[in-house]
Amino acid sequence: MTDTVVLTRTDRVLEIRLNRPEKKNALTRAMYDAMADAFVQVDADPTLRVALLTGTGDSFTSGNDIADFQARAAGDGEGSASRFLPALASMRKPLIGAVNGAAIGVGTTMLMHCDLIVAARSARFVMPFTSLGLVPEAGSSLLFPRLLGHQRASALLLLGEPLDAATAHEWGFVNRVVEDASLTQVAHEIAQRVASLPPQAVQLTKQLMRHGEGDLAGRMTEELALFRERVHSAEAAEAFRGFMERRRPADRSAG
Ligand code: COA
Repeated sequence: MTDTVVLTRTDRVLEIRLNRPEKKNALTRAMYDAMADAFVQVDADPTLRVALLTGTGDSFTSGNDIADFQARAAGDGEGSASRFLPALASMRKPLIGAVNGAAIGVGTTMLMHCDLIVAARSARFVMPFTSLGLVPEAGSSLLFPRLLGHQRASALLLLGEPLDAATAHEWGFVNRVVEDASLTQVAHEIAQRVASLPPQAVQLTKQLMRHGEGDLAGRMTEELALFRERVHSAEAAEAFRGFMERRRPADRSAG
């Protein structure tokens, strides 16, 4: 456990709170591992029925820590999210996303694995993978086109266009949009509703719906192999440097 991910139990609900607000909840390896452990804990504990994922401060999460990407590109071992993504995708109990502010990169793609999503009006979903020289992960290259249609998914994944909360709701990506001040309360009310239902029926229903996802595991493996290659690419190196030096990548500022 780390204090950058805070776990709070309320009755049969485990709240998993990303808690690194000074870095917009950018995800370090310790945070990925803490989330993966929490998902496993929820599934294993018969007294827990649902998990709720949210963030402290004005951002849900700004995605993978870019300094960590740079360290990986310099040859520092395997991907930080290597335990997190399989644990997320294979969770048996429901996961509720409560999205405050920016959800960037994996901050948005992880939400495809949530069963219900509540967004604060400030929520903003962005997947800037291509401008970072990367490719999408978490099965999002399969799940987004299926949910939104190819063109809308291309606007998000190819162009990296931001999606605001109202449009995300209109497009069926989130269940509800609420005022920022109500986010935690509404998300917990939904979690308590789920927790009050017969747990076996809930888990089997989730399992049945997730079976319709075809070869999600195969796509995640394919994405991960490409992602690992891309992290070491010259395009990515320039984009990471650009972010850390607070300037735009050379190709974008030129055009
Ligand atoms: N990795 C590492 N550090 C990050 C980060 C990330 N993904 N996102 C934010 N930070 C850091 C900033 O470097 C800054 O650190 P500093 O105070 O030491 O300079 C701090 O968090 C605050 O971020 P800042 O950019 O100043 O806040 P903002 O309100 O202007 O913008 C975001 C917030 C989330 C829109 C912006 O930080 C952002 O776009 N982050 C990067 C997102 C990204 O590309 N993620 C990877 C996706 S694959």
